[in-house]
Amino acid sequence: MSDKRPHLTHATGAPVSDNLNIMTAGRRGPALLQDVWLIEKLAHFDREVIPERRMHAKGSGAFGTFTVTHDISRYCKARIFSEIGKVTPMFARFSTVAGERGAADAERDIRGFALKFYTEEGNWDMVGNNTPVFFFRDPLRFPDLNHAIKRDPRTGMRSADNNWDFWTLLPEALHQVTIVMSERGLPRSFRHMHGFGSHTYSFINAANERTWVKFHFRTQQGIENLTDAEAEALIGKDRETHQRDLFESIERGDFPRWTMFVQIMTDDQAKAFAFNPFDLTKVWPKADFPLIEVGYFELNRNPENVFAEVEQASFSPAHVVPGIGFSPDKMLQARLFSYGDAARYRLGVNHHLIPVNAPKCPYHSYHRDGAMRTDGNLGRTPTYFPNSRGEWTDQPDLNEPPLEIDGAAAHWDHRIDDDHYRQPGDLFRKMNAAQRQVLFDNTARAVGAAAIPIQERHIANCAKADPAYGEGVRDALTRLATVRAKGTEKAAE
Ligand code: HEM
Repeated sequence: MSDKRPHLTHATGAPVSDNLNIMTAGRRGPALLQDVWLIEKLAHFDREVIPERRMHAKGSGAFGTFTVTHDISRYCKARIFSEIGKVTPMFARFSTVAGERGAADAERDIRGFALKFYTEEGNWDMVGNNTPVFFFRDPLRFPDLNHAIKRDPRTGMRSADNNWDFWTLLPEALHQVTIVMSERGLPRSFRHMHGFGSHTYSFINAANERTWVKFHFRTQQGIENLTDAEAEALIGKDRETHQRDLFESIERGDFPRWTMFVQIMTDDQAKAFAFNPFDLTKVWPKADFPLIEVGYFELNRNPENVFAEVEQASFSPAHVVPGIGFSPDKMLQARLFSYGDAARYRLGVNHHLIPVNAPKCPYHSYHRDGAMRTDGNLGRTPTYFPNSRGEWTDQPDLNEPPLEIDGAAAHWDHRIDDDHYRQPGDLFRKMNAAQRQVLFDNTARAVGAAAIPIQERHIANCAKADPAYGEGVRDALTRLATVRAKGTEKAAE
């Protein structure tokens, strides 16, 4: 009787005769090189691992839709926002930053918040975080951040000394450090956190007028966080708590949603603003630049295959559509280069052909050839421009209005005369007593593992934001040191 199940084949389609026993010379003999199925299977396995993302390596993804609920066409001509009720398919990937691909989810860390909207005018990627600011405003520091927070070159372990030495030497990092050490620095799950575009971007409207914009995505599930102790207990049992929560909620039809808002600033307001509106270490006060509601996104479909759709996903702030543009933010400018570069290294020059990355609208770039060109490579289309065959033309009418820029080229020291402490101080002063205590204790547990001079440097930075912040961290560190000393004495008895 013949077996009706589909047959196993080689990658070439030819049937495999035996997937249980390799071919050997005699019953006890060595393997034969002519067992090509063995060779094919091992060789493919040997190449299954691709480089992980340099940061944000551990993450979870899901598909969904974005729906417009309010009209913002007076600011932005992007067709994704063209009418109320319009629905655009999308993909989201949330992540932690410092941990490797196998890291536990419930770690105190920033969360990545990357969204890909498959719009009718091409893909718009919104590659943000769950915090509105970042550690610094100069991209030269970015590789150093990662060297400081990832593993020490000698010990191969994470190092509180490296981490806090670096952070405390950058006074502009205090705003972000305060958020990460606050109760929000350890979300309960990806569903229970807000997302932020963080940078200032630009909107262009149909009259070709530019405004500056910041994006906010507020969770409809409500903010929920973990304490350090809760996280420790969770990680002991389950390293995938965020992934499990997202996957299972979507499987049971409990689809998470985030409301999208924008803050808008005119160019005149930007010029008159008290600080640099393109400074990623600062927020725009909501009292001056209120949140304007735009729509919401819902995640309602789990990927069928994590490698294909999540690991191979690649996002870039450079992926914008007409109506959405960049800003002079130096961090953003560097990111415009770095993500495409990382994707070419991690996934290859044709990463845009991978289905999760490919636009859902027709796309014609004249790019051809390259490794793993798996579509028809544009067939017989002439791939030069200009051509007299009527092939794809550019659209100068989509050029953004000129942006006035002046000033002398130099390595400007952006730290001079800048106020690094007001906004972290304001954030601290907004916290109630219990929230402040959580901030002190979380900080003490984290910086308490670093050398004393580094602890002192951090206390001094906090005190500049608010004397009570500095004092609170010092008290918490003293208490922690006493508890630890008692623990050591007890252990020695
Ligand atoms: C991932 C570079 C700042 C959010 C990455 C990756 C690189 C990178 C190389 C890995 C990309 C890949 O392999 O696919 C940089 C540089 C920065 C910077 C050079 C500053 C100069 C930021 C900021 C944010 C951010 C400010 C948020 C506001 C993310 C997210 C991911 C990521 C969410 C993961 C994307 C995904 O899920 O695939 N970054 N980054 N990064 N970055 Fe950044």
